[in-house]
Amino acid sequence: MYQPAITATGVYVPPDVITNEELVESYNQHADWFNAKHAAEIVAGTVEAKEHSSTEFIYKASGILQRHVMTREGLMDPERMYPHFRQRSNDEPSMMAEMALRAADQALARAGVAATDFDLVICAASNIERAYPAVSIEIQKLLGAKGFAFDMVVGCSSATVAIQAASDMIRAGSVRKALIVSPEITTGHIEWRDRDCHFIFGDACTAVVMERAEDAKGAHFKVRSCNCATEFSNNIRNNNGFLRRNRPDGMADRRDMQFVQEGRKVFKEVVPMVAAHVLAHLHSEGLEPASLKRLWLHQANKGMNDMIARRVLGRDPAPGETPNVLEEYANTSSAGAILAFDMSNGEMQPGDLGLICSYGAGYSVGSVLLERA
Ligand code: COA
Repeated sequence: MYQPAITATGVYVPPDVITNEELVESYNQHADWFNAKHAAEIVAGTVEAKEHSSTEFIYKASGILQRHVMTREGLMDPERMYPHFRQRSNDEPSMMAEMALRAADQALARAGVAATDFDLVICAASNIERAYPAVSIEIQKLLGAKGFAFDMVVGCSSATVAIQAASDMIRAGSVRKALIVSPEITTGHIEWRDRDCHFIFGDACTAVVMERAEDAKGAHFKVRSCNCATEFSNNIRNNNGFLRRNRPDGMADRRDMQFVQEGRKVFKEVVPMVAAHVLAHLHSEGLEPASLKRLWLHQANKGMNDMIARRVLGRDPAPGETPNVLEEYANTSSAGAILAFDMSNGEMQPGDLGLICSYGAGYSVGSVLLERA
């Protein structure tokens, strides 16, 4: 048995930004345009008028101030309200592969590992750009990595479940070096025309290099243990899929073909689930919550994270104890917890313990207990 370790992480964030002010302005223009277009149906009661969004609501409900996006084009057009991506030929890298390579470049340089040394690539994200061939295999080829690759889709917990899978393979010896990339193009599946959720997401990609601890060239984090769980729920759902064309109205511009959530139910059900999950993980390791120096939670919503942290720690978290990157990046799905980890693990000293915990659609929850070495 070998000790698995995270020896580096990397991040790619697209440069384009949309602030809450810009988002609300374009949404409100859309709502006015929609209401004018459907004026007769609204009067007849067959179509519901759209109300304006507000920056005050967004910040209070989520803690988000802005989001990075792959493109602003199309998104801010009140008559369109979704991004416009150019068509790529089959001979060009896919968008997810391109993002993954950028995040991977940074992680590989930090770990001091050559791309050819990897024998596993996992592309772990809440949406995959196409059905096949797997995006991970494309990334493997573009990097020049050996071994095998596969895509993994577990909602916002995709990266942590992938860390558990790679850890187990490294521990057993079937894999020596693994790269986990989480390119999240959340702007492609969010419904920008719905004020209940138009503010939630942003785009980003993270990369995690995993090796045997004995191979690490510098400071690293031993993966002490992982704990993953799933429990079926329709409260975060997207009905898009390969059977779409075959169903009545399947190709119509339907609301359920984008991200749909029962936000209040998610809040109420997921907070206790995640807090209990983390406490059970710590208990199984014989640890008290006070042993944790950092709790890197999924970056979904500040209110949820504050509540989870209070339940786990039994007190208000100290500043920086549960790092928060929501203001700048919003919810970047499975990339979020790794993004928070990447940006705030520098103060960890040898022997310090920290825990990454993601949660989201499925429901899914994945926690990874790390020890700085
Ligand atoms: N601007 C202004 N008002 C808005 C609005 C917006 N953008 N979006 C919704 N509202 C309105 C609602 O229509 C509602 O009006 P009503 O009281 O007249 O019905 C009111 O604001 C309150 O909405 P509600 O949905 O009850 O707000 P909330 O405080 O529960 O916050 C969420 C909503 C979605 C932010 C919150 O439930 C949440 O964070 N859930 C978890 C979501 C999440 O993180 N999901 C991803 C998991 S990976």
